[in-house]
Order: sequence, then C-alpha cells, then structure tokens
Amino acid sequence: MNDLSSFRKSYEKSTLSDLLKNETPFTIFNEWFNDAINDDLIVEPNAMTLSTASQTNKPRNRVVLLKKFDEDGFVFFSNYNSSKGEDIAFNPNVCLSFFWPSQERQIIIQGSAKKIPSKESDDYFYSRPIESQLGAIVSNQSSVIPNREFLEEKFIKLKKSTKIKRPDFWGGYLVNPLRFEFWQGRKNRLHDRIEFIFENSLWKNNRLSP
Ligand SMILES: Cc1cc2nc3c(=O)[nH]c(=O)nc-3n(C[C@H](O)[C@H](O)[C@H](O)COP(=O)(O)O)c2cc1C
Repeated sequence: MNDLSSFRKSYEKSTLSDLLKNETPFTIFNEWFNDAINDDLIVEPNAMTLSTASQTNKPRNRVVLLKKFDEDGFVFFSNYNSSKGEDIAFNPNVCLSFFWPSQERQIIIQGSAKKIPSKESDDYFYSRPIESQLGAIVSNQSSVIPNREFLEEKFIKLKKSTKIKRPDFWGGYLVNPLRFEFWQGRKNRLHDRIEFIFENSLWKNNRLSP
C-alpha cells in the first residue's frame, strides 16, 4: 500500500472567534466566499462538492458550480435526468461542501434541494454561450454512450438547427440550507469548527470539537 503517513501540513492562517456566533451563517458564507474570490490561488471559488444518496442508499459526490446564492439558498444547474437528478427526486436531502486549501477553510452545507421555477432556468440557460446550450441539449448526462464521436455528431447536427430551446430535463436546483459548518484549520490539529442549525425557525449555533 502507498504510504502517505508523512504528508502533513500545519494550518496557521486564521482563527474562528466565538464572536462569529453573533453573525448569521449567510453573512459568514458571504465573507468567506469573498475571501475565496479575492484569493489568486483559488481558481474556481464556486466549485463545490454535491453529495446525494441513491434509492439504494449509496452516496455519490461530484463537483458542480454554484451559480447564485442568497438567504433562500444555493443554486446550481444540471440535468434533471442525471444520476444526481434521480437521487434528488427520490431523496431531496443533499450536502454541499467547499474546500479552499489556501484559506485552510472548509464549509459544509446540508439542506434540501428542489427545482427552481422554469423561468429562472430559462434566464440562466439563454445567458450561456450557445455552445454550452448545445452541450446541455445533446448530453443525456450520466447515460452510457458508445463513443466520443456519438456525442460530437449529435452536437454538429444540432448546431445546424436554427431554434434552440432549453430542454425540460435541464435546469436549476435550489438547496435550502438547514445546517452550515465553518471549519478553519488550526495548529496541532486543534481546528476551529462552528455549526449553525436551523431549528424552530431560528439559527442556533455550537462550537464543535475538531
Ligand atoms: C469543476 C467542475 C464543475 C462542474 N460543474 C457542473 C455543473 O455545474 N453541473 C453539472 O451538472 N455537472 C458539473 N460538473 C460535472 C459533474 O461533476 C458530474 O460529472 C456530472 O454532473 C454527472 O454527475 P452524476 O452522474 O453524478 O449526476 C462539473 C465538474 C467539475 C470538475
């Protein structure tokens, strides 16, 4: 077995003060997201891991791009017929996570996903470059295809058509958060963790042991 036991990094960049507990999780997310945007070492700050569970309780993670967020939640776009789409239709409980190594920070967001209104999916779909629109239409995401050419031929054929319409199987999901966890790496593995849980219409928070 490959031995990585000497891989070790000390986290010393920042700290999470208890004062953070007076803020809302959305304010903290916003601050941390801005820090990530302004960090040249982070190439895609809006790339996040999305976890879903299948009907047979098998979890799967994959990266998707966060496209919008506010106090209602976090929006990403995908194919509704993909594996993740099937999972969410059966079980809307999902988990999002961001890891920004240069900031020594992780954010975990658990919540419930639902499709956004079709008008909002239209607005985003038609704002994308035409090639991306075509790509979304030709890809039966997560299905098995015979080879690369199959996809490219479909793309070229569709490119010749004059009318492009957002397919019903492609659109956005809004993840309504019910729990946030903010993690800041610290020295000696004594990391800072603060969680916010939405209970009885209020955000409660706790400091967690690392
Ligand atoms: C950086 C990055 C960004 C991605 N963004 C998206 C996205 O916004 N939406 C999406 O459906 N897939 C995105 N993908 C592809 C997914 O990770 C995944 O391969 C795809 O959605 C199929 O997942 P599924 O079969 O589990 O449903 C992205 C992948 C990477 C590495």
